[in-house]
Amino acid sequence: MASTPKSSIIPLLAGSLLLVLLVTPIIWKLRSPACILVGGREDDTRMGTSAAAHYDAEQHPIGVTQEDLKWLKSQLSRNQLQEAPQSHEEWHLLRKGINPRTREQQLTDLNKNRGISHYTGPDASNHTALPCPGELLVEEHHSNYGEPWAGGRDVFEFLAKAVSLKPSDNVLEVGCGTLRVGLHFIRFLLPAHYHCVERDVLSLMAAFRYELPSQGLLHKRPVIVRGEDMNFESLGHKKYDLIYASAVFLHMPDKLVWTGLERLAGHLTPGQGRIFVSHNIKFCTRLPSIVCQERLANLKLKYVGKHTHDSLLFNHYEIWHEFNQVL
Ligand SMILES: C[S@@+](CC[C@H](N)C(=O)[O-])C[C@H]1O[C@@H](n2cnc3c(N)ncnc32)[C@H](O)[C@@H]1O
Repeated sequence: MASTPKSSIIPLLAGSLLLVLLVTPIIWKLRSPACILVGGREDDTRMGTSAAAHYDAEQHPIGVTQEDLKWLKSQLSRNQLQEAPQSHEEWHLLRKGINPRTREQQLTDLNKNRGISHYTGPDASNHTALPCPGELLVEEHHSNYGEPWAGGRDVFEFLAKAVSLKPSDNVLEVGCGTLRVGLHFIRFLLPAHYHCVERDVLSLMAAFRYELPSQGLLHKRPVIVRGEDMNFESLGHKKYDLIYASAVFLHMPDKLVWTGLERLAGHLTPGQGRIFVSHNIKFCTRLPSIVCQERLANLKLKYVGKHTHDSLLFNHYEIWHEFNQVL
């Protein structure tokens, strides 16, 4: 093979280097959208830590934009769906070829017929290692806590926007129930970045046996543990960028809330961790104002203020109270 003269190697190397410099940003740009499909949008950070680190919040804002609303309205108009029926009878008239059943009827059918087709005999257990109980399949637990299930998305969007959430952040929910809110965080965050302590057995069962598998979120390995004494030891000594309690503290004795706050204060990421509590903070306002402030200051916490947020789905807003760390 003929050897290349030295004088031609240098321009060749310089040219190659220039080409690499020019092409790298283009390749990076091309692969970025796939990675950040995540964002508040497709919310799937399956791609891993390094890609999530390149999450572009501006390009993929969390929540509903004016563009989204415009698009939604255009689709309703395109399919002539603008007017929702006004009465039960009108809704019923629309049910053509639909076989409406209550959850109770569905459960009876499931228990009686075990679905349309099912395995029997020696094959009965070969289709899945962990069949979900009928009680969970009919989603009764979506009404466990009264609020419409869809409200979970509103809460997620509000909190995620309030703290400019990134997939690489760590989040702790106190009392996640059936994961009405938690599912949205789990989908958005990197694996194992969502933690929760919950006391209710039925809710935990629904979360593990139905919600995580049915939403395709088992791979996100959320750390959800059973507990009721505001003890977060079993989660490991993690620091959290966001700690929230949605409709939880108002159901707890004040003493337990203060114990919890004392422990949680030490789990905030220094300088940026924030605590959000919904509905009210009677554990604080029941005390004389100065006493409450002093107790918070002793925990190196400060009350930041009250927030509300809108819902796309129903005429509703929730009140949230924010606390942060005093450095
Ligand atoms: C109204 S539900 C809200 C559930 C969930 N945060 C949501 O927004 O859908 C209140 C939840 O707090 C849980 N909870 C109440 N006291 C608790 C405690 N001491 N420790 C852990 N969880 C608790 C309940 O079991 C229940 O799941």
